Amino acid sequence: MNNHAIGVFDSGVGGITVVKEIMRQLPHETIYYFGDTLRCPYGERSKDEVKQFTLEVIDFLLKFPLKAIVIACNTATAAALNDVRKHVSIPVLGVIEPGARAAIKSTTNGEVGIIGTVRTIDSGAYERTLRRIHPDITTHSLACPTLVPLVESGLHHSSEADEIVAKALTLLRGLRMDTLILGCTHYPLLASSIQKVIGDKVKLISSAEETASELSTILQYGSMLATRHQKHRFFTTGDTSKFASLAGAWLGLDIEPEQVSLSYAAKAD
Ligand code: DGL
Repeated sequence: MNNHAIGVFDSGVGGITVVKEIMRQLPHETIYYFGDTLRCPYGERSKDEVKQFTLEVIDFLLKFPLKAIVIACNTATAAALNDVRKHVSIPVLGVIEPGARAAIKSTTNGEVGIIGTVRTIDSGAYERTLRRIHPDITTHSLACPTLVPLVESGLHHSSEADEIVAKALTLLRGLRMDTLILGCTHYPLLASSIQKVIGDKVKLISSAEETASELSTILQYGSMLATRHQKHRFFTTGDTSKFASLAGAWLGLDIEPEQVSLSYAAKAD
């Protein structure tokens, strides 16, 4: 059991930001990552559709011996975390609660911005979680639907990136917040553009670090820490070479993603 893998899931390449942090904090763990690139973005799909896609991917991952699952996608966490928890018997972590906790640790003036997909922002999941932990937090939320396609197309370091990010964040400029939650796991890949636009007085929060540390605590308390890692595996429903280049560059590793064409993957639109 201890050397079983951790299943990590995102709609695309964004969850790799969480994988990187898990590898840094828990280097003996083996990761089985699934990026549902063919059906990405999830962010403008209905809650039911995101829930259905998430459960399908989890069923695929459960064909392997896993000891925990990380839903490294805010959109899927908001839509389906509770359903996945009911569906499986191993620990399941989302990224919203860890992101909210990290933001509360960071803010000193109590004003927190949240950017995410349309589905995550409309769900109100961050506001609810932040206020449950700290009732006096003021939030400023904004959906940024142009940012995930920018990352998935590999253009996050291009000259247009700063311009697209600046346009997407216009409504947040000039607010008093001292902390901004990157409420989508794709956004850390745009962190330098986001920081330039929002100014260096605002601390950017990615849930990756806090999620990996929560995973570490769960594995430790459950006496489930691995002693040596085996080969990490990466699955994608999309183009493997594009996935290898984006995810490999972020991880600083050569990876060989495996193409998955499950019957459901045909329902791309
Ligand atoms: N990376 C995902 C998230 O954290 C979403 C991207 C998408 O819209 O598919 O919400």
